[in-house]
Amino acid sequence: MNKCGVLILLLPGILFAGLSERVDKLADAVEDKVIEWRHDLHQHPELSNQEFRTAAKVANHLKSLGYEVQTEVAVTGVVGVLKGGKPGPVVALRADMDGLPVTEKTGLPYASTVKAEYGGKEVGVMHACGHDAHVAITMGAAEVLANMRNELPGTVKIIFQPAEEGAWPATVWGAQQMIQQGVLQNPQVDAIFGLHVRPGKSGAILVKPGPFMASSDFLRITVTGKQTHAAIPWGGIDPITISAQIILGLQTVASRQVDILGSPSIVSIGTVQAGERNNIIPDQVIMTGTIRTFDHEIRSAYHERVTRTAEKIAESAGATAEVYIGADTGYSPTINHVELTKAMTPTLQRVAGKENLFESTMTTLAEDFSFFQKEIPGMFFFLGVTPPGRDLLNVAANHSPLFLVDDAAMITGVRAMSHLVVDYMIQNQ
Ligand code: NI
Repeated sequence: MNKCGVLILLLPGILFAGLSERVDKLADAVEDKVIEWRHDLHQHPELSNQEFRTAAKVANHLKSLGYEVQTEVAVTGVVGVLKGGKPGPVVALRADMDGLPVTEKTGLPYASTVKAEYGGKEVGVMHACGHDAHVAITMGAAEVLANMRNELPGTVKIIFQPAEEGAWPATVWGAQQMIQQGVLQNPQVDAIFGLHVRPGKSGAILVKPGPFMASSDFLRITVTGKQTHAAIPWGGIDPITISAQIILGLQTVASRQVDILGSPSIVSIGTVQAGERNNIIPDQVIMTGTIRTFDHEIRSAYHERVTRTAEKIAESAGATAEVYIGADTGYSPTINHVELTKAMTPTLQRVAGKENLFESTMTTLAEDFSFFQKEIPGMFFFLGVTPPGRDLLNVAANHSPLFLVDDAAMITGVRAMSHLVVDYMIQNQ
C-alpha cells in the first residue's frame, strides 16, 4: 500500500480526533457561562407551561448563535435548528425546562424565593429536579456545536421542552405535545439524546441499554356500595371492606398475574377517601394510585389485570368498582434504543472517564423523554451531581427542597451532549 492509501485510511480517524479535541476546547470555553446560566435559571424557576422567562432566554441564546429558532411550540417550547457545513444525519438534544411547586430550603446564595399559584394554592417554586442544569448544559452544547458549525457533518436540532413534570392538572406532558406539533419533523430527526441530573458522584455518568425508567400511569378506582348504619352492615354493602380487599388483591397482579421474569412492575395506592363519620358506612370509596412497568406489553396487560381484579372483587360482594387508568396521559417506559446506546457508550466513557461510567440499574421513576423514544431511536442517561464531601447515601433526592447540583459537574454534561452529537454524525454520515 502506498503512502497515499495509508493517509486515506487514517484520514477519518485524524478528522475524528481533531473534531473531538475541538469539542473539548469549545466546551471548556463555555463552562463559566454555563454555571452562571444555571444559577440564574435556578433563581428564576417557572412551573410547567409557564416557562416564559426561561424560553425567552434560550431562544435569544440560540438566535445569537445562528440557529433557526421556533418559539411557542407546545405553549413555551423552543426549537433551534443548525445546519452543519457538511451533509449528514439530524441529531436532537432535549432539555426540559420546568420547575416544581417546592419551597427551596438549600440556603444557597442563588436560592429561589419565587412563589406561584398551583392547584389554586400559593406555593414556592424551585428547580428541585435539576431541570435548570439540563437547560444550562444544553445551552452550552448548543454554543459548542454552533462554534464548529462548518465542520459538522449533519444537522443539530435543540429541543427545549416545557412541562416535563406536567401542568396542573397533571395530564398533559410537554414532550407529547411537542411531538404532536411536529417537533421531530422538518427536518426529520434520526436520533435524540437527553440527560437527567441526580444524586451521585459528581461528573459520573450512568446509562443502560433497553428498559431504563418506568412507565407511570394514573389509577383511580371508585367502589360503590350502599350506605348503612355501621352497627347494621348487612343492611347495606360496605365499600370500605371491599376496598381493603381490592388494595390487597392488586398486589397479586405483580406477584401472580404477570410474568415476573419479563420485567418488574408496581401498583401503589396513594390516596383512599371515604366516609364522614365513624358509625356510618358510606356509599362510596375513591382511591387513587400509580402503576409502573418497564415494557409496553406488560404495561397493557397490567392495566387489564388491575381492572379485572378490582371489578371482580367488588362484584363478589355485590358492589361495583369503576376503574380509570390514564394510559393516554401517562408516561411510557423510558427504553433506551439498544444499538444506539451500545454505539454511543464509548463516547460517554471517553467523556466521563472509564472509572466514572456506570451501567445503571432500572429506576421506577418515570420521564416523558419516553415519548420521543416511542417515535425514534433515543438514549437517555443520568449525570451524578452531588457536591463533593457529601454522604452519597443520605443526600437529598430530586424533588427535595434540599436538592443540590455541583457546578463542577456541568462541564461533563456539556461535553457529553456535544460529543454525542458529533460522534453520532461521524458514525452515521
Ligand atoms: Ni426531572
